[in-house]
Amino acid sequence: MEQYVIKGGNPLVGEVDISGAKNAALPIIAAAIMTDETVYIDNLPDVTDIHALLTAIESVGAVVTRIDRHSVRINGSQVRDYLIDGEHIRRIRASYYLLGALLGKLHKAEVALPGGCNIGLRPIDQHLKGFRGLGATAEVSYGHVVASADRLVGGHIYLDVVSVGATMNIILAAVMAEGTTIIENAAKEPHIVDLANFLNSCGASIRGAGTDVVRIRGVQHLHGTEYTIIPDQIEAGTYMFGAAITKGDIVVRNVIPKHLESITAKLVEIGCEVEESDDCVRVVSSKPLRRTNAKTLPYPGFPTDMQPQMTVALGLAQGTSIVTESLFENRFKYVDELIKMGANIKVEGNSAIIDGISEYQGADLSSPDLRAGAALVLAALAADGFSTIDNIQYIERGYEDFHIKLQSLGAHIDRVDSEKEATRYKFEIVS
Ligand code: UD1
Repeated sequence: MEQYVIKGGNPLVGEVDISGAKNAALPIIAAAIMTDETVYIDNLPDVTDIHALLTAIESVGAVVTRIDRHSVRINGSQVRDYLIDGEHIRRIRASYYLLGALLGKLHKAEVALPGGCNIGLRPIDQHLKGFRGLGATAEVSYGHVVASADRLVGGHIYLDVVSVGATMNIILAAVMAEGTTIIENAAKEPHIVDLANFLNSCGASIRGAGTDVVRIRGVQHLHGTEYTIIPDQIEAGTYMFGAAITKGDIVVRNVIPKHLESITAKLVEIGCEVEESDDCVRVVSSKPLRRTNAKTLPYPGFPTDMQPQMTVALGLAQGTSIVTESLFENRFKYVDELIKMGANIKVEGNSAIIDGISEYQGADLSSPDLRAGAALVLAALAADGFSTIDNIQYIERGYEDFHIKLQSLGAHIDRVDSEKEATRYKFEIVS
């Protein structure tokens, strides 16, 4: 079984390049099948969620030509099938973007219920409400989501909760509908703006993405384009917190500092120095970490996908901190693993109450989901002694070359696939 073996204690120091944003690339890959012309996309992250979605679009007839690790050409002219199912697709959340894309293109879509990280119930009622608002029927039947329409007609849709997935799915379904669609209470994440920019570069007419009212004037067809995905805000934030947690000094390159403002603000609050330039951010952690409180919120609030990394940092801060999770109800499962490392954290409802300790101790850990897994790696890098982390397939869903990038920052980490290799690595590091 693949796992990471980590010897803690080395500060992360150096420069790291951030990959393209997974959560922007996924809806853009789905959107790419909507045009019959060829689309070229680069700066794709080389992570398993992206491969799963590319395989899924091939299964309905898209022709995917992989140019290199980070770029593909996609031609959707032969997409006729509207059924998306299979083991690989059931594991990823973003399969639901194929609902909006296929509904928009073929007026019919049937997609196995989305999987992804088990961080809460994760309903899709707002996606279905949006499709219905465009005149489609949409329901869950025998483990599949089925949507169809004779005609898609623009509508006025008010989202009851701010949902990234529902906002993007409605944009996809509306982009070639008749008339204008207005989405109110839309999510404002940078990846929503990226999807809108991509679709606009294909001839769509989307205004207001990045605000809470998005207006989509339907067009008759979309054309080909060449497009570069934005950098990954959460990957960048993870390395920034890596500097804080390990008392390091990291320059995080190829980022959009504006997208990182809520993360930067928290790092400054807990005592780190953050310097921004055009496309880099440097984080230096030279003083003891200070306590604070944090609450996850939709963008531009502090991201839920950075909540575990924040908790790991506050676990080493002086004093008592409170982290409140307001988006997903099951996102503190990793706290049990941190407690194995000596952390003093109590979870009450949707808050973690954290009494900082001076050091984590190495332990054998298991990654419960993507972001929590990455946060446990950061804790292990700061801990005294060796740790192992299994279930790393979750981490590899969203972090390209995670252990290799960390090694380049001076971390003692390796990816092994047997107990024997883990023991050999530990022996090598000690001797
Ligand atoms: C996306 C991200 C995920 C991130 C999350 C919030 C992808 C593939 N995943 O997930 O990494 O943590 O945004 O930034 O991009 N909700 C409903 N009904 C719905 C849809 C959502 O009640 O129909 C609720 C959810 O339970 C949650 C909140 O709305 O409480 C936000 O969820 P949403 O923004 O939709 O998250 P995802 O798109 O699933």
